[in-house]
Amino acid sequence: MSLNLGAKKIAFFSTQPYDKTFFNKYNEDFGFQLDFFETQLNPQTVALIEECEIVCVFVNDIINETVIKQLAEKKVKIIALRCAGFNNVDLEAAKKHHIKVCRVPAYSPQAVAEHAMAMILTLNRKTHKAYNRVREQNFSLNGLLGFDLFGKTIGIIGTGNIGKAFSKIALGFGCKVLAYDIVESDEMKKDGVSFVGLEEIFKASDIISLHCPLNDQTKHVINKTSLTFMKDSVMIINTSRGGLIETSSVIEGLKEGKIGYLGIDVYEQEEKLFFRDLSADIIQDDAIQRLMSFPNVLVTAHQAFFTNEALTQIALVTFNNIKSLLTQNDIENKAALLV
Ligand code: NAI
Repeated sequence: MSLNLGAKKIAFFSTQPYDKTFFNKYNEDFGFQLDFFETQLNPQTVALIEECEIVCVFVNDIINETVIKQLAEKKVKIIALRCAGFNNVDLEAAKKHHIKVCRVPAYSPQAVAEHAMAMILTLNRKTHKAYNRVREQNFSLNGLLGFDLFGKTIGIIGTGNIGKAFSKIALGFGCKVLAYDIVESDEMKKDGVSFVGLEEIFKASDIISLHCPLNDQTKHVINKTSLTFMKDSVMIINTSRGGLIETSSVIEGLKEGKIGYLGIDVYEQEEKLFFRDLSADIIQDDAIQRLMSFPNVLVTAHQAFFTNEALTQIALVTFNNIKSLLTQNDIENKAALLV
């Protein structure tokens, strides 16, 4: 039965076909009016919004003070992020303009954690190369040598929902798990994880996986200096946010062999690239082109979240967040309400 929320309109930005499929499907129980824009929300596109109280945005929309001021002038009351990270929203500006901001704190931590492990296994065992090789009837094993994950040390930076899920997977593989977070987890300690300082993570890990949010403290946590502490041929996995890695330093690290493997699902300048088919275009971003040229680098285009279960949760939680804000001006799950 439709809840008839006054047929409130929600303007979606950065809409992909799968967003339409999942949001249309689950809207049957809510009855919102859905207005889908394929374009990113930014200072140039904010003018597209007409009468609308709610906007729904994703990871690469730009919701800075300029955009928020215009949203307030257009009487927007709610910015609903359909993702967990919120580094692209100026929360102070939203507060100043009395706009509520909500997010989907944990739609499927397993989806991201499993993708991080998929990247590790691919980089290590080179299944992507083997796939192409055998299709050309090349059954040689030269160049495909990997290593046992069992017994290796994995360092996790950020042990929230995703970091915890990833830790369980790593422990399941028989790895030794070290972790760093500003809040230590007793649950993980019981599982056998050791919480150590950041420098110790850098020094002792064979594989480092990033699962913290991007903020002033974590920006470029992987940089020229932190790389000097790391083991030679370290593997670095980033499924969190591109800004955690200083791209120029990592390119140098790859050239020198300091970094033996790099798996990134996120990239600092991804908003100009990811979620689009640019196969016929000339890419102007030289850093991503250089990264993609290394044989030991695996780039996926922000797909770690992309599972059926996650998209279902994203649609349901986003609609429920909006409904709660419209009916109670609050959200029961405090982690979902940012302002
Ligand atoms: P969460 O909020 O559950 O956990 C984040 C953890 O990072 C918390 O334990 C927090 O204490 C810790 N943290 C905060 N500041 C820190 C610092 N300075 N140093 C070390 N740790 C710090 O978030 P969740 O759900 O685990 O997500 C983590 C990140 O993953 C998100 O912020 C988002 O950027 C990214 N993400 C990426 C996706 C993808 O598709 N690639 C999908 C979903 C999230």
